[in-house]
Order: sequence, then structure tokens, then C-alpha cells
Amino acid sequence: NYLRHLESMKILPSGAGTIPHLNAVILGENLATEEEEFVLPSEEFASQAHVHSPEQYLDMYKRSIEDPAGFWSQIASDFYWKQKWSDQVYTENFDVTKGNINIQWFKGGITNICYNCVDRHVEAGLADKVAFYWEGNELGVDATLTYAQLLDQVCQVANYLRDIGVKKGDAVIIYLPMLMELPITMLACARIGAVHSVVFAGFSSESLSQRIIDCKPKVVITSNAVKRGSKVIYLKDIVDSAINDSAKNGVSIDVCLTYDNTLALTREDTKWKEGRDIWWQDVIPQYPTTCPVEWLDAEDPLFLLYTSGSTGKPKGVVHTTGGYMVYTATTFKYAFDYKPSDIYWCTADCGWITGHSYVTYGPILNGATVVLYEGAPNYPDAGRSWNIVDKYKVSIFYTAPTLVRSLMQYGDEHVTRYSRKSLRVLGSVGEPINPSAWRWFYNVVGDSRCPISDTWWQTETGGFMITPLPGAWPQKPGSATCPFFGVEPVIVDEKGVAIEGECSGYLCVKRSWPGAFRTLYGDHERYETTYFKPFAGYYFSGDGCSRDKDGYYWLTGRVDDVINVSGHRIGTAEVESALVSHPKCAEAAVVGVEHEVKGQSIYAFVTLVDGVPYSEELRKDLVLTVRKQIGAFAAPDKIHWAPGLPKTRSGKIMRRILRKIASRQLDELGDTSTLAEPQVVNQLIELADS
Ligand code: WT7
Repeated sequence: NYLRHLESMKILPSGAGTIPHLNAVILGENLATEEEEFVLPSEEFASQAHVHSPEQYLDMYKRSIEDPAGFWSQIASDFYWKQKWSDQVYTENFDVTKGNINIQWFKGGITNICYNCVDRHVEAGLADKVAFYWEGNELGVDATLTYAQLLDQVCQVANYLRDIGVKKGDAVIIYLPMLMELPITMLACARIGAVHSVVFAGFSSESLSQRIIDCKPKVVITSNAVKRGSKVIYLKDIVDSAINDSAKNGVSIDVCLTYDNTLALTREDTKWKEGRDIWWQDVIPQYPTTCPVEWLDAEDPLFLLYTSGSTGKPKGVVHTTGGYMVYTATTFKYAFDYKPSDIYWCTADCGWITGHSYVTYGPILNGATVVLYEGAPNYPDAGRSWNIVDKYKVSIFYTAPTLVRSLMQYGDEHVTRYSRKSLRVLGSVGEPINPSAWRWFYNVVGDSRCPISDTWWQTETGGFMITPLPGAWPQKPGSATCPFFGVEPVIVDEKGVAIEGECSGYLCVKRSWPGAFRTLYGDHERYETTYFKPFAGYYFSGDGCSRDKDGYYWLTGRVDDVINVSGHRIGTAEVESALVSHPKCAEAAVVGVEHEVKGQSIYAFVTLVDGVPYSEELRKDLVLTVRKQIGAFAAPDKIHWAPGLPKTRSGKIMRRILRKIASRQLDELGDTSTLAEPQVVNQLIELADS
């Protein structure tokens, strides 16, 4: 019997087989309740799954760790390679004390990820299969693109880019909303070996220009505007001002290709710079629908994606071609138990890593049908997501805990009035999913029959690292369960010593995996310092984590100066530097506080320039400054006026105390005696709600 089997595999504690609620689960009452620790996939699900038992998982996992070269080579052979990789499947130096960090997979192998995403499937008979269903912001506005049509359009864009002089290795910035043109453009860049850098179209012009200045793209690709919910966002205006700022910093942009999104804004109303700006619809359709592929080394860069760290300057995470291709495709297949008949919808924007690996590359490499949604999840009402699920018969639905929690607030009836019977697998990403949100997702959205893949990973990791395999694992609400093939997680203590068994500490990884990032753009030293020096011999994730008695991993959030707001990563230093750029702000200290829907929200302590009074108007202005410099998603929820900040005698701000004040845990302030001016603490508490 399954439970005894799990026990014997040491996946369940011994004696679990006699726990009544577990037996109830086995018998089919698969409701996720408070008391119950494990939620099992149904036998029906497990029997059809790629990996259908913990035993099979352990077999494969063991092989992936004992023989990574053999394990990954076998998987890589399913892709098209113009030339096979060298005998040394991977090189790795993961230990800074032994030299520079140098990760390579399938070096010498010649391939192209766009070819593997599109041409390969068209040639294999999938020409008429739908690649993308596009659902517009407004009800009833939609479009469909087959794999054959995708190939045509990718080729047209690729030909255009080549024609304007974009070559292998050149950067291209993409600042587009969730139109089909976004993944099309990514694939077109990949086809010609250009390195795309997608900037989430919610970033401000300042953030965009910072990225333009850093990677000096040949072209910026955008749209005039987009409608999200009932709001129109004028993207082209943001791009114009970013390009102007970049020019002042010596980086000029000659071409701004602009998609005419007529439903949001007319051409006549779009600000235009003749000579530089070009309408997508005026040029792209004129190009041929075939375009030769640029064959690339597996280690040629595929894209750059900027992410936040603990300093004010975003990091350009670099992913390369071959390993990323093999890893995103494989993780997608197993973590979602993907089958060719599935319809897959991931609610992430392509501007984040989730949209790179699990809207574009992972699913398209598998020949999947992907739903893209342009709009807001609660527009025109809180049932929109389930309306989309029913409309396209979505079977795999991948989203973020923040969305789950926000929809939970509207009540079950927005969910239950839709059928959702097409759903088969649910997924969660971006932050730890709290058990109550997990249960609601499982019981209400998934009708207690769809396993949830809670996938832990990062921009840096390229793909899933710790994730359930839905047919194999008994799940625990709130745990990302166990490592993916080839991943060896290690929990270390403060000194970097690995701890065994049940424990908590810092989450590290012991060896390279194919999807790992290879460097930070233009700053390999920062790459080593940030990720490989804190605990020599390991990659350090920046996350805290515990492992329970059954070997399950529980992520507990960032341990560095990074805040996670609605699954978006924001550096405290970035927000602080935006605040102090305001002429009336002398100093700022930003912390994250727990937030019911967003996970964390931004709480900013600000000290004003001498003699400046604090006012409501100034508060609004400070918030606006952050919106303008970073983007609306980084706006602080709370500005706390701080005539003084708690500092040590050496001048270091004691964030620990600020965090306690921000979350009003005033009886847990701890020792304040080492502060230079202990009285500032009381002053801050008095001003807390003013
Ligand atoms: C950080 C990475 C990777 C996709 C989205 C975010 C947190 C992500 C989980 C999860 C607990 C999670 C971590 C991580 N995180 N997924 N399933 N459980 N925490 O990518 O912007 O690079 O952020 O998001 O703190 O370090 P990212």
C-alpha cells in the first residue's frame, strides 16, 4: 500500500500509515484541512504522471546527482543540435577559494533555442497546433497564433532586426506589455543571436534608462500604450523620456520600434520622433517569413535580465543558450506534469524571469499551447481568471500567492460560478505560499483534486530548484517539498557549515545545474562576491529555509536587504536612494513588513533636511518620487517621519529595531542600549501613527 511504501522510503515518518486522516485522504476525501499534514495526489493522477511515485523520483534524482553528465546529456539529446557538445559535458568551479567561478554546460554544442522552440515543432507536424491564445484586457478581444504562424512572425521580426544592423551578441531592449509580440520578439532575438533584455513595462522611465545605459541596446522595442483594467498606460512617453535621459549619459538610441496598440491609443495621439520611431505594423509585415538561424555555442548569451540586489544598482543576470534550454524545458515538463494535450496559463509578465522561463521558453520548447493575458486579474471583476480558465479550457494554471490571496478576499462565489473542470495542475511562485492560501487554492480553485506545484527558484537559477513533482509527492501545504533533478540544496549555519537533517539556516546549492546564471553583466566580481563568497563552496540564494523531519524544504523569505512585494523583488537600497534623491529628504531607511495580500509591503523611515516640516503633501511627494524612479509596484505603503534613526555608535542603522517598530512589535525591540542615541526609539514610536 502507498502509505507503507512512503514510510519505507523514509518520506513519511514511521507510523504514518496508521494516522486516520491520511487513510481518509487515500480513500478519496482529499480535502486539505488544518490538521492534515499531507495531501496526496489521487491514484488517477499519479498513474498517468511522468513521475508517479516517490520511488521513481528518488531513482531519477539519485542518477542526476551521481552522474550529472550522463543524466543531462540524455535529456539534451532530445533537442536539435547542429553539432554535439564536447566530451566534457559541464565544467564547474563552485568554490571561490579554488579560482574564479566558471559554469559551463554543453560547451562546444551548436544549437539555437528559437529553432528548438518553433522550427523543430513545425517540422514535427505541430504547424497547426496553437502556440498562443491571446486574451485582451477587454472581454471578447482575443487572438490565436499557431506554431506555423509563430514561425512566420518570428522570422519577420528577426529579418527586420538583422536589416537594421542587429548582430549576434548585440543587446535589444524590449519594453512591451503582454502582447503576443512580446514572446515573438524574444524568440526573434534568440533566432539571430541578439541578447534580449526585457524590461517589465511597469518600470519607470528612470529604471528603463538605467538599463539602457548599462547594456547599450541597438534598438528599443515598445508599444504606444496598453490598457490594464480601466487604466491606460502610455508606454511610449515613458520610453521617450528614458531615451532622452540615456542620450544625456552618452548612450543614444537610433531606432525605437513601436507596436501600434490601437485599442489603447491612436497613432495620431502618439508622440513621435521622425527618423527614430518606427511603427511595427508599417515595417514588420513587409519582411520575408523565412529567416536563416544563427547557430550559436551553448554558452553564447541568450538574455540579460535585471534584478534587484542589496545595493541601489540592479544586477544584469546573464543566462546562456544550451543549459538554459535543456533546464527550462525539463523543469516545465516534470513540475507541471506537462502533456501535449494540456492548455497552460502562467499569469506572470514576460518582464520577469517567470515570464522568460515559463511563459516563453519552457512551454514553447515543449510545443505547448500557452495562454497570454494582457490585462488585470480582477477586471472587469474578480472572476476574470476563472472566466479565462473556462474559455480556453486551461489545464495547468501557474500564478503567485499574492494573486491567490487577493482573489480569496472577494469570496468563493467568484470562483465557484465557473466550472474549472479543465484544471489538472496548479502552480505557485514568487514567495512562500501561506498554508491558508494554499488550502483555498487547493480546495476552492482546484476542487480538491489538482496538485499544487509550489516552485521555489530565482532569476539567477533560470528554472525550478525545489518543487513538487505533482504525481509523485505527498504535499504539505506551504512547503516547496524537495529538490528538482540535479539540484543539491544545502542548509548552512552562520559560519557556512552545512547542517544535516531537521534544521534551519541559509539556503545554498552545492553544485551547478544547467540553468544557472553564468555571470552578472559586466561585473563578474560582483557575481562572485554576492553569490559565491558568503559561503565558500556554495551558491548562496539569499533565502532562509528550514528542512523538516521528512526532508521537506520550507522557504522562510529573504535574509538580505531585499523585499518581496507581491512576488516582485525590490532592493531596500533602491527605494532608499530614490527617497533621498528628493531634495527635502536627508536620509531614508526602508524595511519590509508583513502584508496580508502582498506578502510584504514597503515601510520607509525618512529623516528630513534640517528645518523642513513634515506634511501630508510631502508624504505624497516622497511616494511619487519612488513611483517615478522605480515604478508603481515599489511605492512605499507607509512613510514614517523619523527626526532621528536608531544607529550604532559607528553610525550603522539598526534595521532590526526599525523592523520591529514598523510591525508594531514594540515589546520585542530587544537591546537598544548600544545605540548612539537610545531616545530616538521612543520618539519613533510616538510618531508611528501620526
Ligand atoms: C525570490 C526570487 C523565481 C520566480 C519569481 C521570483 C522568492 C520565489 C518562491 C517559493 C518561497 C519563493 C525567494 C527567492 N521565492 N519562489 N515558491 N517559495 N519563496 O523571482 O524575482 O528572482 O525572486 O523569490 O525569496 O529568493 P525573483
